[in-house]
Amino acid sequence: MTDDYCSPGAEERAQIIRRLLDAQPSVSPTYFYDRTGSRLFEVIAVLDEYYPTATEHAILRRHAADIAAAAGPRAVLAEPGAGSCEKVRHLLPAIAPERYVALDVSAEFLESALQSLRRDFPHIAMTAAAADISLPLPPLPAGRRLWFYPGSSIGNFSPEQARSLLSEWRAHGGDDCALLIGIDLVKDTALLDAAYNDALGVTAAFNLNLLRHLNRLIGSDFRPQQWEHVAFYNAAAARIEMHLRAREALAVRWDSPPGSGLADGRRFAAGDLLHTENSYKYSLQGADALLRSAGFDDVRVWTDERGWFGVFLASAG
Ligand code: AVJ
Repeated sequence: MTDDYCSPGAEERAQIIRRLLDAQPSVSPTYFYDRTGSRLFEVIAVLDEYYPTATEHAILRRHAADIAAAAGPRAVLAEPGAGSCEKVRHLLPAIAPERYVALDVSAEFLESALQSLRRDFPHIAMTAAAADISLPLPPLPAGRRLWFYPGSSIGNFSPEQARSLLSEWRAHGGDDCALLIGIDLVKDTALLDAAYNDALGVTAAFNLNLLRHLNRLIGSDFRPQQWEHVAFYNAAAARIEMHLRAREALAVRWDSPPGSGLADGRRFAAGDLLHTENSYKYSLQGADALLRSAGFDDVRVWTDERGWFGVFLASAG
């Protein structure tokens, strides 16, 4: 979760602004998760239309014993982007790791999440470490590392980026590491479209809230009323795309870092799109190929009976 009150450095602000000035403007989906955005995502996760969270949870619960047997005991369980550390709760009793290492941008936020987890699992050692996905990984405790990356968070990366990210984990984890990852699967377009266009408009609010967060990050004056939520499945690219579409011709200004040479605002025509997220979906075969291309092997998968979501376990070497 991005701290609402912590302002980013000049380089990060310049990066945000550069993408806004692009011919095809975009914002990194990491900026969805300020305090409000994180709350909105918690609501999305329990919506009827948003199947991934509940489906993955059901798979982890139903196959916990199998998954744990395949993963082996006493691992160093490391979770990048652990956030509130809620998902790992369901896994800890079966997996029985020697240690749980939660990684996320804000180590402080993680520390408070770990406090409640420690109360419920006093026999499992736990550590929090600050890890920005764009920075080198912090050193991990010795032992057999098991990466845990649930929620189809991998879907935010292009397949190329995903391969390179997972390769880094593979290299950092060592020759006896493994990966337990949740990946959303390709399915009927109507189901995908509905999951990102929920009837209550929570996903729309989540998308629009990004503008409020941007306003604090770069001192911009985006007005959410001037924008509308757009989400659709792009079958050719196998991804959900989320955009914000300008309802009218409008101008936005922001504070560019002094000396950056970046324009301090831009105009949008009615109908212009601001690309806010990609959420890639994989076939079982495609996910298997992704994991292998990142240097993992022995891929096993557990799915729900509808085949909507996959929990994959793959080992190095
Ligand atoms: C957290 C990236 C897995 O892509 O489904 C949910 C984010 N965006 N609804 C997803 C999201 C809109 C979610 N991930």
